[in-house]
Amino acid sequence: HTDPVSYVRNAIRSVPGWPKPGVTFRDITPVLQDPQSFRVLVDLFVYRYMRQRLDLVVGIDARGFILGSVLAYELNLGFVPVRKKGKLPYQTLAEDYTLEYGNATVEMHADAVKPGQRVLLIDDLIATGGTMLAAAKLLQRLGANVVEAAAIIDLPELGGSTSLKATGLPVFSVCSFS
Ligand code: PRP
Ligand code: HPA
Repeated sequence: HTDPVSYVRNAIRSVPGWPKPGVTFRDITPVLQDPQSFRVLVDLFVYRYMRQRLDLVVGIDARGFILGSVLAYELNLGFVPVRKKGKLPYQTLAEDYTLEYGNATVEMHADAVKPGQRVLLIDDLIATGGTMLAAAKLLQRLGANVVEAAAIIDLPELGGSTSLKATGLPVFSVCSFS
């Protein structure tokens, strides 16, 4: 018997030297592949948010779609994708953010969220927090209330969760790795 958080954390695979030397990649695919750890993971989020009167789950391209869509379904909510630039067909809003090397842009459909809607923002992992912050800015520009920015994994040494919290955004992660 182990607690749900340890059950999920123990199922995450650490891959040293990927995508480059000196980096250890935290890989959630074993959590998803195993039906028990996948269920424990989803249920952790369901119990956290079931009484939060959310209106919408917003998931971030691409790994945020996996948990985000399951969670939206379980909570009887709609799902909205935040996508990498150039993928969405209709009118979009865009936010640029900084990567370790260069820049990237995320987009959301302009009619995806209505002012005042209570939104859960979700991704697999917070590293520098740049992706999550750009997505939160898109939502705030549309007048949404970002109830929480949630991830499975936080990498606290990269400072992302700290800088997200410093903007006033509530942040949650199931576990962290240093
Ligand atoms: C990874 C991860 C987060 C983001 C975290 O996605 O899934 O979205 O990076 O990094 P940050 O906190 O420094 O912004 P990636 O951009 O690799 O895209 P993918 O999900 O399409 O693989
Ligand atoms: N795992 C998954 N995605 C990531 C990581 C990681 O360790 N670091 C930055 N994005």
